[in-house]
Amino acid sequence: EKGTYPHYMLKEIDEQPLVIRNIISKYQDENGEVTLAEDIRNAMKAADRIYIIAAGTSYHAGLVGKQLIETVAKKPVETHIASEFLYNMPLVSEKPLFIFISQSGETADSRGVLVNVKKLGYPALTITNVPGSTLSREADFTLHTFAGPEIAVASTKAYTAQMAVLSLLAVDAAKAQEIELDFDPIKELSIVATVMEALCDQKDALEKISRDFLNVTRNCFFIGRASDYYVGLEGALKLKEISYIQAEGFAGGELKHGTIALIEEGTPVIALATQKHVNLSIRGNVKEVAARGANPCIISLEGLNSENDQFVIPKVHEYLTPLVAVIPLQLIAYYASLHRGCDVDKPRNLAKSVTVE
Ligand code: F6R
Repeated sequence: EKGTYPHYMLKEIDEQPLVIRNIISKYQDENGEVTLAEDIRNAMKAADRIYIIAAGTSYHAGLVGKQLIETVAKKPVETHIASEFLYNMPLVSEKPLFIFISQSGETADSRGVLVNVKKLGYPALTITNVPGSTLSREADFTLHTFAGPEIAVASTKAYTAQMAVLSLLAVDAAKAQEIELDFDPIKELSIVATVMEALCDQKDALEKISRDFLNVTRNCFFIGRASDYYVGLEGALKLKEISYIQAEGFAGGELKHGTIALIEEGTPVIALATQKHVNLSIRGNVKEVAARGANPCIISLEGLNSENDQFVIPKVHEYLTPLVAVIPLQLIAYYASLHRGCDVDKPRNLAKSVTVE
């Protein structure tokens, strides 16, 4: 039930801190350590390469998952769009592990890949919000995202839950290989939950940004580098699916290779700046678009911010910034949809779970 909330989407955005705390409590042992089931740990350890398969928002979580597993657990990872992998399968390594990410666990494109992978005899892990679902039953192992039912068609809490679980999977795989961690994963996730709360309290500021930047526009670009690029893709998907504003996410450095031709006087460009090693470069990209008339909105991380940034996110661990950076984008999309009088929870042409290919 959505209770006093006008829309499920807003309720589900607000539930994100709780979901993260729930995930922490489900996955920590009595010593406050992350421990996953032994068969999952062994499968991660045995794999020489990991293939993440998903669609839509879950694919975007998979892109972040690749980065988490590679940086924390030092395993090579490829993230693929399920419907592409299905008919254009790359050469796979000798000992692959397949990870399916699916909120519903029923997405036909992902299931198609799972069926093929099982025929080939490869191990498969499903990360899902619905443990009894098809993808969960047909895989060898399941990790539950514990986000609770997600009713709004636009996925919000399932996405952040998927990334939180992927971070724990990465941490567990690192431990299995005796890789020293230089951070406390549970503590850092608790900080994420606290920061999420602070962001959910900033609705008025984000509604104003939505009004100031998106009220009259037909299009909007999201730019970022490294993990901010992945979050930008998700921000663009949220905005287009519920407000029908044409929105695209781009890697900051790729803009000048073509897309910059689309920048006109007043085109909104939402830039994410949460990554220290690319902070100067992304700000350079903002200058490039501003010089061509764009209306840039910079969303940065505390400590990397400049004085005139439109929105500053409190600090979290650098690996976990996508979990918090997406929240302003979810809320900006929500208000854009609301201001345009769209059906926030049930956008046109879309179904909550896509069970046909
Ligand atoms: C976007 C959205 C979709 C789903 C996609 C995959 O907000 O919800 O892009 O993420 O259809 O669905 P699942 O995760 O159920 O496999």
